Amino acid sequence: MTDKRFYLEALGIPLWLPRPNHPSLTREGHTDDHSPRPLMEEASEVRASDSPPPPAAKRPEMRADTDSPPDDWIPPMDDDWEPVFESDDNDLAPAPPMSRETRIARMDWEGLKAEARQCAACELCATRTQVVFGVGDHQAEWLVIGEAPGADEDRQGEPFVGRAGKLLNPMLLAIGLQREQVYIANILKCRPPQNREPTPAEAAQCRPFLQRQIELIQPRIILAVGRIAAQNLLETDTQIGKLRGRVHRFGASRIPLVVTYHPAYLLRSPREKRKAWDDLRLARRTLATEPLGPARRSIDP
Ligand code: URA
Repeated sequence: MTDKRFYLEALGIPLWLPRPNHPSLTREGHTDDHSPRPLMEEASEVRASDSPPPPAAKRPEMRADTDSPPDDWIPPMDDDWEPVFESDDNDLAPAPPMSRETRIARMDWEGLKAEARQCAACELCATRTQVVFGVGDHQAEWLVIGEAPGADEDRQGEPFVGRAGKLLNPMLLAIGLQREQVYIANILKCRPPQNREPTPAEAAQCRPFLQRQIELIQPRIILAVGRIAAQNLLETDTQIGKLRGRVHRFGASRIPLVVTYHPAYLLRSPREKRKAWDDLRLARRTLATEPLGPARRSIDP
């Protein structure tokens, strides 16, 4: 096949050739203008195997030599005939608008953060001081997820920097983790007024951000801190006492998820710290026995 024919076919342009007995062809199989023309065998091969001929009624006849097309890729046209390509309609159809979820699900860290910073998807945007996006190692094995920013977090723009954070840090240290080694986020990125509970609608609007953070981090374990985090992530109404003490699985990648008490609760009920310690050890044990996922395997030898 000639280069020209190859490219024309790739573009979906039909190749038109003079009929075998057309006067524009000399006996030697060359045209009068001395440019090489395809041999007859090649012409019939094209029609037979590559593209079916147009319906007989619509097939234009070659006219006299002076009307011949300047090259073999321009079909001779009657006034009422034009080539129609399959994709014509599709090319003109506008692309369907992308949903907010889909847009967010395709973002990188930079885009995600920028999108969250200017988010106005719920009414919390009117009362927040700033968006509390999340903090920590983008490749962390541990992802800690709390409820929502409080007053300190709203002011400083970082999760768990208030009193609850002052307890979360030593809890992590107790299992050998510096705060900087993990990633910390919340169900909500904006503070609810008077630290009220997040509404289901607020959590739903914020969910795509957290979902994308989880996809980007690909943590090996999620520690859900407190009832709100646990119930939202596991999409359940079950009490926290029944959710802790076992390993759940999150999402399509089935990331192990362990539930523990919120540090703010532990500050109010210090006797429950022992149970939280059990939860942390369960999480640490789970991670030690969990096989590395495909993404991690390619990073870690
Ligand atoms: N409580 C939370 O759940 N998250 C924070 O960031 C701070 C307090």
